[in-house]
Amino acid sequence: MGAGSILRMPTLRATDKALDSITADAIIVGIGRGKTRPLMTPGAQALDELLGGKLPDALKVLSATGAEGEVTRIATLGAGPFAVVAAVGLGAPDEAGRYSAESIRRAAGSAVRALSGRRNVLNALAVDPRSADGNIDHIRAAGEGALLGAYRYMTYKSQVPPARDTSPARVDLLVPDAKDATVKAELRRIEAVASAVALTRDLVNAPPNDLYPAEFARRAELAGKAAGLRIEILNEKALAKGRYGGVLAVGSGSDRKPRLVRMHYTPSGSPICKIALVGKGITFDSGGISIKPAAKMDEMKSDMAGAAAIVATACLVAELGLPVELIATIPMAENLPSGTAYRPADVITFRNGKTAEITNTDAEGRVVLADAIARACEDGPDWLIETSTLTGAARIALGARTAGVMGSDDLRGRVIAASERTGEAMWAMPLPPELRKGLDSSVADLINANTDRLGGMLVGGHFLSEFVTDGTEWAHIDIAGPAFNSGSAWGYNPKGGTGVPIRTLLTTIEDLAAGAPTG
Ligand code: BES
Ligand code: MN
Ligand code: ZN
Repeated sequence: MGAGSILRMPTLRATDKALDSITADAIIVGIGRGKTRPLMTPGAQALDELLGGKLPDALKVLSATGAEGEVTRIATLGAGPFAVVAAVGLGAPDEAGRYSAESIRRAAGSAVRALSGRRNVLNALAVDPRSADGNIDHIRAAGEGALLGAYRYMTYKSQVPPARDTSPARVDLLVPDAKDATVKAELRRIEAVASAVALTRDLVNAPPNDLYPAEFARRAELAGKAAGLRIEILNEKALAKGRYGGVLAVGSGSDRKPRLVRMHYTPSGSPICKIALVGKGITFDSGGISIKPAAKMDEMKSDMAGAAAIVATACLVAELGLPVELIATIPMAENLPSGTAYRPADVITFRNGKTAEITNTDAEGRVVLADAIARACEDGPDWLIETSTLTGAARIALGARTAGVMGSDDLRGRVIAASERTGEAMWAMPLPPELRKGLDSSVADLINANTDRLGGMLVGGHFLSEFVTDGTEWAHIDIAGPAFNSGSAWGYNPKGGTGVPIRTLLTTIEDLAAGAPTG
């Protein structure tokens, strides 16, 4: 390991100075997609005035269209205080000529990725005073997109990358009023969110030979303690004593024993509500005895993405000091075939006394989550949110960029509403009662996987619901699609771990803390 962990995240600052009094190596401006030529935005307009009205022609010569994801780099050849202009496409605006926060977030990410090798960058994407969501949403989007887009996973590179491949060290956001208290608080939130996303991406990208349950637990503890959380780690002995039959069964095939991590945050004042978070932490999912085909099995290092997001979110809520009590319950295990592995036809008993007949050892997520959800419910939370890379069926149904959300109507609706603001694509999914019958067992209370493949994502949700105490508001977010990007980088998403659904979890928790009515 030569190059160290991720390179330092860029420093983020806000400035409201006039463009001609700022110097930077590069400036990012947005352009929209018009019918015949790219559309100017307020940021592009201001820059154009500085460059003597030559920007539209330059864009035309370079065939810029303003399409989403397009970055046109222009050298200014001394014509202004910025050596390079990155004109980034925002896609087509709405009828009122406005752009969504998410199009700004993606554009900021694309532009920063295209500006490797520039030390300091001025980001002028957030200066549209007509923004529909109010300026703060656009400032958040421009800041998050830039910092999230600057992420690189370098831990296992033996050489330090050359300067031309290095993300900017500093990003200045051009805003209407840099001294505004809301703007200052927003910068703090953006940086905290970006570090939480980077932590999760690091954990997801870590190879499974180095990130096994005990090591994952150790890193969760390290991060949690730094954020001021109380941490409890159950090792295999404590798991046996606590009757965590599901976690132990899934972990039994690996020499590297399972863990269950509990992270507890209590605010300084009296909490508005009590929130339970649960995340699936399978550090590697081979399928076990019901082994997976070899193709793309390496991607199953990402089967702990839900757990990683929960670890980071718990830390984030503490760092931001939200007025909620929060307890995260995180099962960690490695699913391998071996002479000690659990097997199809085994019957296991969970923490709450319910039993399941194992029909497929590759449906291991719900087996560890059953114990974790049962434990989380013992704390009597007002709200329970669980997230996991639970089913391949979620990818079949929704593709690789959209998460499926199941659970009780109220909380599911709140999660979906939050996701619409964060830009993490999510879609509400039903739990049709007739699909529950498919989980009946002739031997035990349940089977863990039914034989037909109909509605596989929803059947997974049904299984989990069996372990949620009646009357508890709960949501299950299946992130098997969006947690890991196996294609190339796009917008603010690198290849590999993405950090989904941290931003939606945080926003949902902020909403609950604000006592917001039903979403
Ligand atoms: N971790 C997988 C789900 C998964 C697949 C996540 C692809 C990300 C990408 C999960 O443990 C699994 O194997 N699920 C099975 C369930 C089935 C046996 C009921 C699946 O989806 O095939
Ligand atoms: Mn599996
Ligand atoms: Zn799995």
